[in-house]
Amino acid sequence: MGEVDPAYFQQPEHRPKLEIVQAQGIPLIDLSEQPSETLVEEIRNACRDWGFFQVVNHGVPLETRQRIMAASKEFFAQPLDEKRKVRRDEKRVLGYYDTEHTKNVRDWKEVFDLTVEDPTFVTASYHPDDQEVDEWHNQWPDFPPHLRGACEEYARAVEKLAFKLMELIALSLGLRADRFEDFFKDQTSFVRLNHYPPCPVPHLALGVGRHKDAGALTVLAQDDVGGLEVKRKSDGQWVWASPTPDAYIINVGDIIQVWSNEAYESVEHRVMVNSERERFSIPFFFNPSHYTVVEPLEELVSNESPAKYKAYNWGKFLLTRKASNFKKLDVENIQISHFRVPELADALEGALKLN
Ligand code: OGA
Ligand code: NI
Repeated sequence: MGEVDPAYFQQPEHRPKLEIVQAQGIPLIDLSEQPSETLVEEIRNACRDWGFFQVVNHGVPLETRQRIMAASKEFFAQPLDEKRKVRRDEKRVLGYYDTEHTKNVRDWKEVFDLTVEDPTFVTASYHPDDQEVDEWHNQWPDFPPHLRGACEEYARAVEKLAFKLMELIALSLGLRADRFEDFFKDQTSFVRLNHYPPCPVPHLALGVGRHKDAGALTVLAQDDVGGLEVKRKSDGQWVWASPTPDAYIINVGDIIQVWSNEAYESVEHRVMVNSERERFSIPFFFNPSHYTVVEPLEELVSNESPAKYKAYNWGKFLLTRKASNFKKLDVENIQISHFRVPELADALEGALKLN
């Protein structure tokens, strides 16, 4: 084994502890029931207290999940040269790559991205004045030939679950069940096949560095290896999200944080790797149309509880993030905190400084 590129090394304070804390706390929610007050209450508590939960009896057929997992394994098992035939670049933003960085540290993983809609319409550039719209097209490898069918079938099945979860989340916020539906008419959702190879330095590197998901909702399938860690809201401790067979892990993204005016928060998470076993996971990132103006919902804003965020355009946000994967931009790495209305304390401090 050669030397490991230090680009993978996390700063000492972000390195994972190899002794893990079990997250008994991540709520497990059974979706087999019709929406009831009890179910809505469970969703509300989980979103508020954790930002993360697992679901069982979710309606996604097990065979659909097994097919995409098997096809993903076959794809990643190929030599690098084969995988690079569907490599993404600045023009074709979907497909294979193994060079992702999270907060400037390289992630120990390789991925294959595909959008749920093909084509997906997205604003052409991150410049605010540019109104042009682009089409994103999926790239499919020759091998394995059934990868495309498996991905398309999976995307449709998980999309149904994502819509159902958005209905439950709407009810849990006291809104009409279909309140979020229109935002997803021209969705920019995508599915990511993740492969985390065994890592000789699991104490130094991470599969994915700490981050929050920028979209509305993430529906994650993980295999039985485990590695996902969630930052527990109550004490800031990194806790291990234990794999539950056939369950999906759900987390609230930044957009729900803004829509709910912070009733629910997007929670930090990261992925540990290990030196023995490779790991596969498949997040489905449920994202609204590119022209969505993301802002706190008017029903959730009042004089007593004013909007905590200024409106932003989702397409521009997404494009700024994507573009920063390729080059250092003339804009800072974009975060929803940039749209947060200054807190009273900051305003006061500013006022005091003027004196
Ligand atoms: C992600 C992510 C978790 C995992 O891709 O955003 O958090 O377990 N993945 O792969
Ligand atoms: Ni994530």
